Amino acid sequence: MDLYDILKERRSVRKYKPDPVPEDKLKRILEAGRLAPSWANKQCWRFIVVQDEKKKAQLAASMPDSNPAQKAVGETAPVVIVLCADPEASGKQDGKDYYLLDAGLAMQQLMLAAHAEGLGTCWIAWFDEAQVRKACTVPPEYRVVALTPLGSPEKQPSPRPRKDLSEITYSEEWGRLAGY
Ligand SMILES: Cc1cc2nc3c(=O)[nH]c(=O)nc-3n(C[C@H](O)[C@H](O)[C@H](O)COP(=O)(O)O)c2cc1C
Repeated sequence: MDLYDILKERRSVRKYKPDPVPEDKLKRILEAGRLAPSWANKQCWRFIVVQDEKKKAQLAASMPDSNPAQKAVGETAPVVIVLCADPEASGKQDGKDYYLLDAGLAMQQLMLAAHAEGLGTCWIAWFDEAQVRKACTVPPEYRVVALTPLGSPEKQPSPRPRKDLSEITYSEEWGRLAGY
């Protein structure tokens, strides 16, 4: 699959078929995350692959009922990946904590690879960290950055709107329209 097609087609998937994720696909997807760039190549991330129904229910319980991805985690997706990162294993610059960026890059690579494999994912950041930490015995030095369900999409969701390039791109200096 062409990279640009993957970028255009990837959606946040919140409804899944119950079909299991084959181990070889799962491994390739995790591998895509492993290859991400990071601050000084520190690779501060860890991925926890959750397939146990009871544990998935605990993860869903960590999310507010109004989180639209709650059912995907607790009921429909066969796999949930918990993304953790160690802030001390990454850099800080001018008050910016780069562990979030490192972990986000790994997650995004993993998600794009999942789409290339015909599988869906959804970034989830709205959860109670303490509950996820307890469910997956995450050690105190690691933060839980995000979760994603992983599985066969029940259907391809329609695209969400994006700002025009002309709204977000400047030429040479802030505010000077680039004409893209
Ligand atoms: C950092 C981050 C946190 C998010 N948290 C949640 C979440 O808790 N629950 C949810 O349903 N979607 C969540 N999303 C998904 C966004 O709502 C989604 O990416 C956005 O609406 C664009 O839709 P698309 O991914 O289908 O293009 C999150 C996305 C990002 C990048």
